[in-house]
Parts: sequence; structure tokens; C-alpha cells
Amino acid sequence: MPVDILVGTQWGDEGKGKLIDVLTRDVDMVVRFQGGNNAGHTVEIGSEKYVLHLVPSGIFRPGVQCLIGNGVVVDPIGLMQEMQDLARRGIDVAGVELSNRAHLIFEYHKRADALRESGAGAMKIGTTKRGIGPAYADKAHRCGIRGIALTEPERLERLFREQAAKYNRLFVEAGIDPLDIDAEWLKVAEAARYLAPYVGDTVVSINEAIRAGKKILCEGAQGGLLDIDHGTYPFVTSSNTVAGGACTGAGIAPRHVGDVWGVLKAYTTRVGEGPFPTELFDQAGETLRQVGREFGATTGRPRRCGWFDAVAAGYSCMISGVNKLAITKLDVLDQLPELGICTAYEVDGVQTPYFPASTEALAKAKPVYEWLPGWQCSTEDVSCWEDLPENARRYLQRLAELVRAEIAIVSVGPRRDQTFEV
Ligand code: GDP
Ligand code: IMO
Ligand code: MG
Repeated sequence: MPVDILVGTQWGDEGKGKLIDVLTRDVDMVVRFQGGNNAGHTVEIGSEKYVLHLVPSGIFRPGVQCLIGNGVVVDPIGLMQEMQDLARRGIDVAGVELSNRAHLIFEYHKRADALRESGAGAMKIGTTKRGIGPAYADKAHRCGIRGIALTEPERLERLFREQAAKYNRLFVEAGIDPLDIDAEWLKVAEAARYLAPYVGDTVVSINEAIRAGKKILCEGAQGGLLDIDHGTYPFVTSSNTVAGGACTGAGIAPRHVGDVWGVLKAYTTRVGEGPFPTELFDQAGETLRQVGREFGATTGRPRRCGWFDAVAAGYSCMISGVNKLAITKLDVLDQLPELGICTAYEVDGVQTPYFPASTEALAKAKPVYEWLPGWQCSTEDVSCWEDLPENARRYLQRLAELVRAEIAIVSVGPRRDQTFEV
């Protein structure tokens, strides 16, 4: 099949950026299909470290076409800066294509995001404050501004001023500073001038590539448990992060889809608020955070850390139809004497192997653990399955069995070469 999809299967930051970079060795095109610059995808090549927010992680492979699909919400100023930064570091961004149907994020969306968070009390989501929710809300309200407008400056200015004035009325009502629309417009106009040549019909580009038999890889952002429909609502992001999102978010018919890669971190992390049954508040949690360098790639916030949750990850893998697992950050567990795997929840004294829809139920779910012995030696330089310590293989096999998918890749460090196929 010409199209494979790669998604995060937990609450994001599973190592998708690294895996996309590795897999694009044999790919012609990489497509982002949802989310925006709330994403932070890290790619380490030699001594260079890059954090991508909107530009697809295939950008480091010359000849791989990188597309930002219609389902993405795009901050034009953020995208311009990201492309300029990459270009300054010698990365060729000339081939990037931005969908004319992708909705745009402006400063007023970011302010509305921050305003909602500041007034939300216990319902605070802990968003990245990148304006993601308000931009998707405008799309659903049918008052969003799309990528095509970047190529029509007069129309863009009129629409931007109308929307900004509308938001300013809300800001004044809420007692916060309104936007300086004239000043903001100048920044938007500059970004539009920069981005206009990159705007195109990505749906046509993708479907022509499919017809030509090219190999396409869709790059998910966030993770299945942050999906707007299937995640821990309302503590989710505002898009469909599961594999199905690639069809609508890129304009790809389901019959063209082949493999679904699920990136699975060997333990669990979460940034922001919301239930997290296996969260650790003890030394083991601190060890995962320090050894795994679990600090947000976008906001720098410390990530909450916990044991592997097979109930949550299994549910997410089921919805995305994951058939190939890429298990990352195995090396982070190297020195731990024993490892917990959550195989069920206990809610109000009743055990369940299912992921509850109720956020309240999830918040009081007590994880039921299975304990496996650690291996207590370094896996950082391991380059094949056979060379892994016996206990590491047992641990990985147990994860795969619980989430019902096959292990295809294991990652034992952030670099490209710290990866092997199984
Ligand atoms: P993404 O959002 O899914 O692309 O993941 P992030 O880039 O936000 O976070 C993953 C972090 O783990 C990054 O700093 C990566 O460089 C790093 N990383 C990826 N794979 C591995 C691995 O196997 N071992 C270790 N130690 N770090 C990894
Ligand atoms: P990548 O692609 C981890 C989280 C935020 C917050 C919630 C909603 O790097 O894995 P939003 O700004 O989207 O409205 O925030 O979603 N979140 C992420 N967590 N990784 C991400 O992206 C995330 N993008 C959003 O922390 O809890
Ligand atoms: Mg990330």
C-alpha cells in the first residue's frame, strides 16, 4: 500500500519525530495531518538536535517531500520562523507544501486559549497556549481563515481584521488587553508574503503521488489518548490524533492505507492536566523524568511520568489499528530493579480491563500491576533483538502482547543509529 500512518499511542511525546526521521529513509513524502505547533518533535542527527513543530520530520532527508495537510492548524508566523530557522541551519525547506485548506492560527487564538485556561479553575487543561482549541473551534464555527488566504493579501487583511475585532470585543469584556490589530496585521502580512509560494493543493499532490505509486508516510502529532473523540475528554487536544485522522486530515481514502505504526514509549508520560492512573509521585517517577529527560519539547514543562499503562495504550492501539509497534526509550528503564505494567484498573472496587469513558472514573481508577524484573545494564549500544538482555526482551514482548501488535522497531536512545528492526 502506498500510504502508511504513524501515530503516538499514549499522551504524546513517544518519540514520533525520531521514528519519522528513521523511517523516511525509504519514503517519498511525509504528511502532517492534524494538530499544530502544540507538537514538538525532536530529531537528533549526530551532534545536531532539532525540534520541529509544524514542518514534517522528513525534512532532513533530501528528496523527501514534506506536506502540511488540510487537517493541521497553522500559525503562519510560527511556521515562517520555523522554516527560516531550519534554512539558517542549512536544511532545504524549498519543497515544503502547505495546504490551501489548512486553517490558520492568529494571535487572537493564542490569547483566547490563555484566557480560557486562566479562568477555567479545576477545568484547566494545561494547554500549550498555542491557540489550537480556538482555531479548531473557529473551523467548526465556520468562521476560520484558511491557507488559501495567504495568497490573497487583500482578502486576508479583511478577514483578519474582522475576526480580530470580534475577539477584541471578547477580550475587553473579559478585562484583558485587546490586540493592537494594526501592529499584528503587519506581522501577519509579512508571514503571508513569506509563505504564499509554499501554499498549494496538498490533496492533489498526495493523490497524484498515490497514483504514481510513491511511498507516503503520515506523521501524527500528540497521541491517541489526547484524541478529541477517544481521549481523556475534556483533557485532550482539539483534533483526531488516531490513525483515522490521517484520512480526513490529508484527503487520503481509507483504501490506500497500509501499515499503521504505533509509537509506544516503554513507560508513560503526560504533559498538562487530566487523569493519569499510573502516574508516579515517588523516586521511580523522578528517575524516569531525569533519565528520560522528560521535559516538554514545546513548553519546557516537566512531564508527568509513570509505569506503562497497557489498558490505556491497548485501547489507543485498537482504535488506530496499530499493526507495527515502534517501542522507544527502552534505555531509560535500564537501571530500574523492577518494572510495573498496568494490566487493569480497579474502579470503585470493581476490576476492569477496559478504558473508561468517564473522566471521573478514570481519575479514581487504581492501576492493577504486574511486576517484571529489570535488567540493570545498559541497552544504549544494543543493535539487534538477540543482544538485548533476556529480561528486556521479556518486558517488550509482554507490552506487545498486551497491546495486541507486533514489535517492528526498538529504540534505545535519541540518535538515528540507536534504533533496530525486529
Ligand atoms: P514526539 O513528540 O513524539 O516526537 O517526542 P518528543 O520529541 O517530544 O520527545 C521524545 C524525546 O525522547 C526527545 O527528546 C527524543 O530525542 C528522545 N528520544 C526518542 N527516542 C528515544 C530513545 O529511544 N531513548 C531515549 N533516551 N530518548 C529518546
Ligand atoms: P507531540 O506531537 C504532549 C497536550 C497539552 C494539553 C493538551 C491540550 O509533541 O506529542 P493543546 O495545546 O493541544 O490545546 O493542549 O494536549 N499536548 C501535548 N502533550 N505532546 C504533544 O504533542 C502535545 N500537544 C498537546 O499539554 O494537556
Ligand atoms: Mg513532543
